[in-house]
Order: sequence, then C-alpha cells, then structure tokens
Amino acid sequence: MAKDTRSTTETPAGASPARPTALVTGASRGLGLALAKALAAGGWQLVITARGAADLDSAARETGATAIAGDVADPAHRARLARAVHELGGLDLLVNNASSLGAVPLPPLADYPLDALSEALRSNVLAPLALIQETLPGLRERRGAVINISSDAAVGAYAGWGGYGLTKAALDQLSHVLAAEEPEIAVWWVDPGEMRTGMLTDAVGAEEAAGAADPETVAPFLADLVKRRPASGRVIR
Ligand SMILES: NC(=O)c1ccc[n+]([C@@H]2O[C@H](COP(=O)([O-])OP(=O)(O)OC[C@H]3O[C@@H](n4cnc5c(N)ncnc54)[C@H](OP(=O)(O)O)[C@@H]3O)[C@@H](O)[C@H]2O)c1
Repeated sequence: MAKDTRSTTETPAGASPARPTALVTGASRGLGLALAKALAAGGWQLVITARGAADLDSAARETGATAIAGDVADPAHRARLARAVHELGGLDLLVNNASSLGAVPLPPLADYPLDALSEALRSNVLAPLALIQETLPGLRERRGAVINISSDAAVGAYAGWGGYGLTKAALDQLSHVLAAEEPEIAVWWVDPGEMRTGMLTDAVGAEEAAGAADPETVAPFLADLVKRRPASGRVIR
C-alpha cells in the first residue's frame, strides 16, 4: 500500500474546491515522476501510469498515487485509467507526458521505418487525444486543465528528429484546436526544454545528456503553471 506523503492542499485556480485530482502519464521516471512528486507535495490526489510496473509502484510509494501500469496506446488500459479517475470523484488536470522517441538511433526521414513512426504516432498523438476524449466531460464540469508535453523538435528542423518532431507538431496542433473548441478548460502545450532523462540519453548519449536540466527543476514550473492558470496556449520553459 502506498504511503501518503501529502500534507497541505493548495487549490489551483479553476479547480474544484475539494482535493484536486490529476492523471499523469509516464510518471515512473523523468519529468513525469518529478511532476507527480511536485503535485503530491501540493496536495493533489494522483492517478499515475507507465508500462513498467516496478518503477511505477516505486513512484506510487513516493507520491501516494494510485498506480495503474500499462501502455497508453492500449484502449483497454486507457479505459482503466478513466475508470480510476471517475472512482476518485473526477479530474482537474490531465498531463499527457508519456512519449516515445520513435526509431533509435534517430534516423533521417529518408530512411525512417514507417512501422516505428506509426507506433510513435499512436503513443504520442492518438493516445493523448484519446485520453482527452475520455476525460473531457469531467474536465469541463470541473473547469479543469490539460497539459500536453511537447518539445522544441515540434517546431525546429533538427536532423534525425523528424519522426519524433512530427508527432510533437501534431500534438501541438491538436492542443491548439482543442483550446479553441473548449473554452471551459485550460489547455497548455509545453516545451519543457532539454532534461537529463532516459529519453534524452537514448537520443544523444549519456555524456551529452548529462549537461541538460534535472527534471526536478522543471516540475515546479509546471506545477506553478497550473496554479497561475494563464490562458490556453503554447508554453516554453
Ligand atoms: N528529456 C528531454 O530532454 C525532453 C525534451 C523535450 C520534451 N521532452 C518530453 O518530456 C516528456 C517526458 O520525457 P522524459 O524525458 O521524462 O522521458 P523518460 O525519462 O524516458 O520517461 C518517460 C516516461 O513515460 C513512460 N512511457 C513511455 N511510453 C509509454 C507508453 N506508451 N505508455 C505508458 N507510459 C509510457 C515511461 O515508462 P515506461 O517505459 O515504463 O512505460 C516513463 O515513465 C515526453 O513527452 C518527452 O517527449 C523531453
């Protein structure tokens, strides 16, 4: 059973007055784990997910979260997440953070394996949209918020980053249109900047990744974004 480390409840603008609830995908390590810890420290009730159950359980022990292991690209798993959120009374914040790099080492578009691109589109674009669709009625009701974690690769032309970058460009655009269609909720698509995580290490190697920011220093920026609740839009850390 997870230890409850939460203390004070800070209610973010627009969230329900009772203890607010967030669903954070990819919360077993990296930015997702750092954000889950920051939200838990702020009194949030959490549902977290990732595929690897051992790391996710350890994250749940640290944050007091409800942990449900699985792949966000799997519709049955997404239905389980939506049910868990419903059982906790509703949702104030959905964070689509789980993401795939696509093919590794990062290939040029000329040689990009289309099966790997299709897999990346499923986890980076279709899964976030599907989770939004499943949680939107509750988010509308509670005037909640969606954070979609993007990347500078969504807008920059970096050799090798085309496959991953196009998934993030699609995520940005769906966020932009969602913000126009759903004035009741806040939608932020966030470029968190480079962070030294497993993903960056896989992409550029440990030596280069070592110089990037610690995700623990990025998470408070996101927690503060939720508290400030600026207008929907693209956010660059
Ligand atoms: N690191 C950077 O420099 C950087 C820069 C810009 C943007 N970003 C973005 O920041 C976000 C977090 O990345 P990170 O660097 O923290 O990555 P990370 O350390 O590799 O963590 C990724 C997390 O997502 C989970 N995950 C991956 N695919 C999943 C799937 N299909 N279903 C469920 N969970 C899944 C992983 O756990 P399992 O593998 O066990 O599922 C893990 O918990 C991503 O959206 C990434 O694109 C990162």
